[in-house]
Amino acid sequence: MSPAVVAHRGASADRAEHTLAAYTLALEQGADALECDVRLTRDRHLICIHDRSVDRTSSGRGLVSELTLAELSALDFGGGHPTGRSDPTAADGRLPVDRATGPLRFDDLLDLVVGASRPVRLFVETKHPVRFGGLVERALLHTLARHGLTRPASKEDSPVVMMSFSSRAVRRVREHAPALPTVLLLDRIGRSLHDGTLPPWADYTGPGIRLLRSDPDYVRRAEARGHPTYCWTVDEPADIELCRRLGVRFLATNRPAATRSVLGPA
Ligand code: G3P
Ligand code: CA
Repeated sequence: MSPAVVAHRGASADRAEHTLAAYTLALEQGADALECDVRLTRDRHLICIHDRSVDRTSSGRGLVSELTLAELSALDFGGGHPTGRSDPTAADGRLPVDRATGPLRFDDLLDLVVGASRPVRLFVETKHPVRFGGLVERALLHTLARHGLTRPASKEDSPVVMMSFSSRAVRRVREHAPALPTVLLLDRIGRSLHDGTLPPWADYTGPGIRLLRSDPDYVRRAEARGHPTYCWTVDEPADIELCRRLGVRFLATNRPAATRSVLGPA
């Protein structure tokens, strides 16, 4: 079976990452699922953003944790920043401008997922400014509960999957929302995880593509212990083929359209 295509930060090779335009395009390009990072603003709103600071992805400067939602809303997250990835249709070599300004609120992304015309999953990764340790997961669960998403009928059908590189964060979510599926992201496979065994509070294993290139048997070992593999971030055709061959279940890519054309229709 082909891996499900997960649009990493949306169709982020074609649109500014973590914008509604990037996520909408990803769905048009045939993504099965979306990926986003979440952080808390100073006044404790969850927004979709990868970095600790807004410098790279907006027209402003500063730490997300030190800016209010109102201050962030005055910034352009859609196209006013050079990303180093140019779009041939953009005359100035920048990514196309997203009409919405301000950061994408996590609530708005959930609305897109829940309101999609076909089932779509959202893989949400909590990021950790020190000053908000623990609060990000609490805010996430509160928001998901408001949308009725913390108690899916089954983990396989859950529209939302929580993930983190922090084992503490994943464990915390498991304690408070046991029905919500979780991914433990791995940047290096520690000795204890090398045989594919995960701690009981994680459902899926989340290695990067470099790990699978150097240890292709990892996916089989994890599957044998009941843990599907979510692999990030896979943009090269040879890596996409590798993931398919190894039995990766979820493949996170910045290029959903190109990945779909390698894998074929869903
Ligand atoms: O999907 C997991 C992947 O996003 C982890 O790395 O740095 O892109 O959040 P990063
Ligand atoms: Ca991420």
